Amino acid sequence: MDLSDFDRRLSRPVRMRANEFQRDGRLKHVLFSAQFSRELLERLCRMADMIRELAKSKQGSDQLRSLLSHKRAMLYFTQPSTRTFLSFMAACQILGLTCNEVRDPSTSSEVKRESPIDSIRMFSSYFDLIIMRSKIPNFAECCGYLMNDLERQERRSVPIINGGAGTDQHPTQALLDVYTIQRTFQFDHDEQDRRSRFMELRKCYTDLTLGPDQKTYAFCGDLGRGRTVRSLVELLTLFDDIKLFFIAPEHDTLQLDPNLRRQLIDSGIEIQEFDSLDATINGKPVLEQIDCLYMTRIQREHNKGSESDEIDKIDLSHFRLSPERVARMKSYAPILHPFPRDSVVGEIPTVIDEDPRAMYFRQARNGMWARAALLVHLFDNVDDLHFMYNREFRELEISQHLR
Ligand code: NCD
Repeated sequence: MDLSDFDRRLSRPVRMRANEFQRDGRLKHVLFSAQFSRELLERLCRMADMIRELAKSKQGSDQLRSLLSHKRAMLYFTQPSTRTFLSFMAACQILGLTCNEVRDPSTSSEVKRESPIDSIRMFSSYFDLIIMRSKIPNFAECCGYLMNDLERQERRSVPIINGGAGTDQHPTQALLDVYTIQRTFQFDHDEQDRRSRFMELRKCYTDLTLGPDQKTYAFCGDLGRGRTVRSLVELLTLFDDIKLFFIAPEHDTLQLDPNLRRQLIDSGIEIQEFDSLDATINGKPVLEQIDCLYMTRIQREHNKGSESDEIDKIDLSHFRLSPERVARMKSYAPILHPFPRDSVVGEIPTVIDEDPRAMYFRQARNGMWARAALLVHLFDNVDDLHFMYNREFRELEISQHLR
């Protein structure tokens, strides 16, 4: 079996492919954003909230760790990764999964010319879950097909999670981005506080609503090669009345992928493209009109041929935040970044980190809870989580009541 054997299946429409990776309303493998429905996203966000609440106490953490303590995970990350790798590992640890890793293919049998697909097949005999990041485009999806085929023979299903493939997809980053957006647009989490902050904001922003609907999202930087951009854009289209602004240098490689542009236009989403963070619409700065800003770094490692020289000539100051630019933004508008940020280009200078709108560190932490929720979903432990949560917090309520 080699990768070209999957070409026919990879070339089918996305809906057909997505159908193969789910069962009984549950995901079997997590490979691309189009597998998520709005309803599933909302369920996962609620579960992530429950896990983070439970994890606050020792008793809750101990219970969480018992959920998947009988499972083993393989983290196969042969492309550089810090956050995705570590947050998956932390998510596994929260739920008690034992983790093992291969990060450097030179330490695996791939140096003996074993194909990556054979490596995956081998892992699937030792582990119950494979989380992977690879530079081979569509590799995770091919592994999903491989697992489905093996399941028919061996009656054992090993979920595959795509932790970033090529320049194309990064579905779990998009999940944590949506989780961050959903939490931010609740305007604080404490029930009482939320209402008062929201009411306060409404005095200034009269058409502000709770939640991710009816918002304008701006993406800035390397939009062509940022797999996080594509994956998140696809999820945002599940929300109502959203607008998407794309701010990128005038270079084909860095601009929105034409297929994605077409897809958005065909589905009736309002999009606008700009060549600077200082752009205006009818004289009004774009920065004043957005509800959320998603910054990205220029992904130089993907430069091909003459691109390095051409991209070096671009004036990137138009795609870099500054305190003055942030000051123009709405007071509640979160600034997100999948990270790493480029410390030389400085698309988000560290001086912004103290601004209440700087959400990127919290975004990274949210990744751990969102990924833990996804694991609970994949292993069908949702009822157990609900049971744990209700027992823990009902007991707390009763003891507070008796006090
Ligand atoms: C991104 C990635 O690897 O796609 N980071 C991440 O996973 N958090 C973005 C990047 O590398 O710029």
